[in-house]
Amino acid sequence: MTSPQAPESTELSDRSEEHAALVDRISADSLTTRRDYLRIVATVSGGLVVGSTVVSAGVLHRHGDGTAPPLKVAEKLARGQAVAFNYPGEHDRAMAIRLMDGTVVGYSTVCTHLACGVLWRKERGSEGELYCPCHEGVFSARTGEVTAGPPPRPLPRVVVVEDEQGAVWAIGTARSGETERAGLCRGLRDSNPVLAERAGCNAEGAS
Ligand code: FES
Repeated sequence: MTSPQAPESTELSDRSEEHAALVDRISADSLTTRRDYLRIVATVSGGLVVGSTVVSAGVLHRHGDGTAPPLKVAEKLARGQAVAFNYPGEHDRAMAIRLMDGTVVGYSTVCTHLACGVLWRKERGSEGELYCPCHEGVFSARTGEVTAGPPPRPLPRVVVVEDEQGAVWAIGTARSGETERAGLCRGLRDSNPVLAERAGCNAEGAS
């Protein structure tokens, strides 16, 4: 005879598996500090359903994971101008900016504090800044480093290059604090180890 408790037990088991999977995912993230973990747990204290929604919405997604084909993000980018796009995935918010000296830089625009959207403020400082309105976080437009507020880490980079016509392309990503070359090499090692070897990605200092 089927116990009337069985469906509830199954549900509890499913929930506990879901919770275990969430904890595993957070714990496995090499860029997630213990403090971040506790903050995330507190943030999703509304329950596992909320936690699952956060995960599926990509809040815990590790920028720089996986590879994506090059993406043209702008035909032209004037000095002081920024363009928003999604890369490497369709939910990964990013931005390319041409600084006033002509340098083009790219970043994830997911704030490293609590994942709010980071904005471009051209008029701030000598070369503009990236600003998070949620808790007044500020990042250097040139390096992505935190210059003010609570964000614990720099903005992860999106590697951008210009072609001969001046169009701007996103070609890869690097995690917060990782060099562009290390990020590109990590992606290449995953997608084409032979090319990675030929590109010197296995040499010391390339990762
Ligand atoms: S979420 Fe960006 S400063 Fe808090």
